Amino acid sequence: MKLKVLLASVFLALGLSANAQIVIKLSHVVATDTPKGQASEFFAKRAGELTKGKVKVDVYANSQLYKDKEEMEALQMGAVQMLAPSLAKFGPLGVKEFEVFDFPFLFDNTADLHKITQGPVGASLLAKLEPKGVKGLAFWDNGFKSFSANTPLKNVADYKGKKFRIQSSKVLEEQTRALGGIPQVMAFSEVYQALQTGVVDGTENPISNLYSQKMHEVQKHLTLTEHGYLGYAVIVNKKFWDGLPADIRGQLEQAMKEATALANSVAKKDNDDALDGVKKAGKTTVYVPTKEERMALKKVLVPVHAKMVDRVGKELLEAIYKDTGFDPKKL
Ligand code: LMR
Repeated sequence: MKLKVLLASVFLALGLSANAQIVIKLSHVVATDTPKGQASEFFAKRAGELTKGKVKVDVYANSQLYKDKEEMEALQMGAVQMLAPSLAKFGPLGVKEFEVFDFPFLFDNTADLHKITQGPVGASLLAKLEPKGVKGLAFWDNGFKSFSANTPLKNVADYKGKKFRIQSSKVLEEQTRALGGIPQVMAFSEVYQALQTGVVDGTENPISNLYSQKMHEVQKHLTLTEHGYLGYAVIVNKKFWDGLPADIRGQLEQAMKEATALANSVAKKDNDDALDGVKKAGKTTVYVPTKEERMALKKVLVPVHAKMVDRVGKELLEAIYKDTGFDPKKL
């Protein structure tokens, strides 16, 4: 009896009745047929199954609820409970360390990347969110970014003077400048139109984002530079999360574990399929850079690490170099 009263008061404090369904709004900015879109839908399904309907996850894809910057504010205010922003978008929370993932050419492959996102460095980064009222649950992959534009991008000189849309990251600003380009920070939902109207000349993204937003219809050239990584941290409002009944939180953690495995296993295929889609659409010339061309790009972009190290902290960058074996001096 005592337990019942206690439970009832906990539920009351949460603004719920003992039988009420808990609703989690999960907002994100990309299309459903992307790694993040699929993993979000899968999480929603498994959360419903594992909690036997006690939790309902409503997924709002394609910026239909919030755009990039608004998302973070909405989460902190509790207007939305869960997000999966790209790692470039944690600046507004005051956690600049996440921008280390924007360092160009930092990860040679997914195995190296996972040493960080699925290891102790990743866990320590997620822990930095807690004082901001945010809890980090997982890292989800998208993949490696490539540059596109309306003119060919083969040599470093081809980037000069071009306006490139980037996410709101100081590291990406510096990356664009290192190439002689002009960075333009813009919300994801506005990129298609900006490319179409010529407000910007080009952009960077994994192909799944380029294709699902139809950017290839307004970009004549795509060069498979794979010069940097784009992935996500799934985050929740900490007060909401900590206030959940422990058994339900455990079931949601299990659903998240499964969704993370799905995200990280479908990401490569989604991007490969998207590239096929771009090729089939026939509107964009897809160019694979030669080894020399990619190395020339790397030589210009790796110095961005030294320039931006103060933003993320020397210790963090060195811990990543150590775990992945990356040596900026050996190019
Ligand atoms: C972008 O803004 O380009 C990406 O962060 C979008 C996303 O969430 O994948």
